[in-house]
Amino acid sequence: MKKFFVVLLAVMIVTSITFAKNPTAPMARAIEDVKNAIVGESTASAKYAAYAKKAKEEGYTKVSLLFEAASKAEAIHAGNHKAALEQLGDKSPVVDPKFAVKSTKENLEDAIKGESYEIATMYPEFMKDANEAKANIALLSFNYAYQTEQKHKAMYTNALKALNEKNEKTLPSQYQVCPTCGNTYEGTAPARCGISMTPRERFLTIM
Ligand SMILES: [Fe+2]
Ligand SMILES: [Fe+2]
Repeated sequence: MKKFFVVLLAVMIVTSITFAKNPTAPMARAIEDVKNAIVGESTASAKYAAYAKKAKEEGYTKVSLLFEAASKAEAIHAGNHKAALEQLGDKSPVVDPKFAVKSTKENLEDAIKGESYEIATMYPEFMKDANEAKANIALLSFNYAYQTEQKHKAMYTNALKALNEKNEKTLPSQYQVCPTCGNTYEGTAPARCGISMTPRERFLTIM
């Protein structure tokens, strides 16, 4: 038992020395997260724009609109993350987006997978790190994206279902995107954004 406490004490001392030596570790991790999020959002924006083009070619006009709206939203997320990184004193990485365009059904499946990863894994971890680092601007930017991706996942899931049931006609023919946080509404937006409170007059309309 005594041996256990000696070992425990040693571990505590080593840990405290490590943190004392490197007080910026949580901030460095948060900055790395912001850089990864910039790559993820920039890639998603380019990918969804290409998926929109493909959907149009396949005659899925309404799915094309959804991809276009989401592409705009992801670009807003990337822009917010870049601004946050600048505030934290670092420079944005150069992004060379890599993705493959397949059939619209496969593209929707890929989009659902991507949004699911961001909601379940990526953003929760990044928000935890930003919170620990007290990097509030990164936390805000991550939260804007995290909340928007939940809506995107639902919209993509609904679109895939409509396609499988040969019901594309039932999908919305207009989307509105908040310029502050990327929040995406089917049809028209409420008077103020449900995430960032931005007035509707400033929203982007995709139709
Ligand atoms: Fe996003
Ligand atoms: Fe998204």
